[in-house]
Amino acid sequence: MAETAKIQVDGRTVELPVMRGTDGPAVVDIRKLYGDADVFTYDPGFTSTASCESKITFIDGDKGILLHRGYPIDQLAEKSSFLEVCYLLLHGELPTAGEFAQFEKNIIYHTMVHEQVDRFFQGFRRDAHPMAIMCGAVGAMSAFYHDSTDINDPEQRMISAHRLIAKMPTLAARAFKYSRGQPFVYPRNELSYAENFLRMCFSVPAEDWKPNPVLAKAMDRIFILHADHEQNASTSTVRLAGSSGANPFACIAAGIASLWGPKHGGANEEALNMLKEIGTVDRIPEFVQGVKDRRYLLMGFGHRVYKNYDPRATVMQKSCHEVLEAVGHQDDPLLQVAMELEKIALNDEFFVQRKLYPNVDFYSGITLRALGFPPEMFTVLFALARTVGWIAQWKEMIEDPSQKIGRPRQLYTGSPQRDYVAVDRR
Ligand code: CMC
Repeated sequence: MAETAKIQVDGRTVELPVMRGTDGPAVVDIRKLYGDADVFTYDPGFTSTASCESKITFIDGDKGILLHRGYPIDQLAEKSSFLEVCYLLLHGELPTAGEFAQFEKNIIYHTMVHEQVDRFFQGFRRDAHPMAIMCGAVGAMSAFYHDSTDINDPEQRMISAHRLIAKMPTLAARAFKYSRGQPFVYPRNELSYAENFLRMCFSVPAEDWKPNPVLAKAMDRIFILHADHEQNASTSTVRLAGSSGANPFACIAAGIASLWGPKHGGANEEALNMLKEIGTVDRIPEFVQGVKDRRYLLMGFGHRVYKNYDPRATVMQKSCHEVLEAVGHQDDPLLQVAMELEKIALNDEFFVQRKLYPNVDFYSGITLRALGFPPEMFTVLFALARTVGWIAQWKEMIEDPSQKIGRPRQLYTGSPQRDYVAVDRR
């Protein structure tokens, strides 16, 4: 017999189906609840709500597990490449050699953007935050690539996915170059995805630029670590925007806006600023006291889902050491502060009780700084890497036959109905 859950409300008993996935908690299907019992459920922040069915990413927050299409993130970070992970997220399986060669070609040969997109950048102030530029530039892609905005055409959906993955590094590098007042650098098809991005960011016409394999590998791994993370705020934003039938470029721009916040993708920039503000190891106790007094948060710590070490943070910490060594910054005082802060926090009752562990952003700032990026670029890099997750989730939603426009309900606590009062009688 099918498993059900019972809810008693207003003297009525409603029986609801229970659904079970491959892993994770069972889900009570409440879709008929309003129709059968005339009640809504209340879950601000969606702490207990599964908003969709998905086959892409699985997280077990208590055990610190993150799987993409079943593959553990640490194995992908060690053995795969970002583009292979992109294929995996989009198609559900690791590619054969032939499939990968075709996919790589599709991406590498579509990295250029329409020449007029470059003019679009000139409209921004030079001191604009690069995430502000990215919100605008990615949204504007729907004004340039009309031939892949028909969401009902599977081929166009795939073309826009390829375009977004291919062109995002070009746009991100332009946002960076624009803030520096340096000329835009065009992509080169013979370079890998990560090398190409680093070159578009750091090369100048006055000098030759050679890829550094250690730094390119680290960049690629950082992209893998940020590629997808199931139904987080920005991904849910992309799905909600897309549920109305909006085109994929507009939906990804919505995701970028949501990612920007300091509680989500903006945390890497905030975490580095925090480490800089602490400055030296001896100031850590005073800082930690401020966190306990609720004056501020320990950025790069805590997670809605992980109540254990974020598995991405483990890989990021290792990468951080490798990059600092490659650029000769092993003695970076911020690394010392981060390591000591982590040690203290992991043993302090305040953090232990609340299950607050380092998340992916705790070490990513130090690593990205060593790669040469200023803090305001950190969230842009997150957006670049997360684009594949967003677009894979968007595609999955559009291809789901049970998909409906997203439309949450509310618990209304405002005034009851009343009559309009003329201004002279108020
Ligand atoms: N520093 C200090 N206290 C914290 C922190 C923190 N970073 N995070 C949570 N807490 C406390 C919180 O005050 C609460 O305490 P109490 O129960 O006494 O009121 C308790 O821990 C539970 O926290 P919560 O606010 O219920 O947790 P949440 O699931 O709503 O928030 C979070 C998750 C990630 C928004 C939050 O931990 C946070 O703001 N962390 C700092 C920002 C950060 O690093 N974000 C990056 C997340 S990973 C990358 C990404 O996905 O974008």
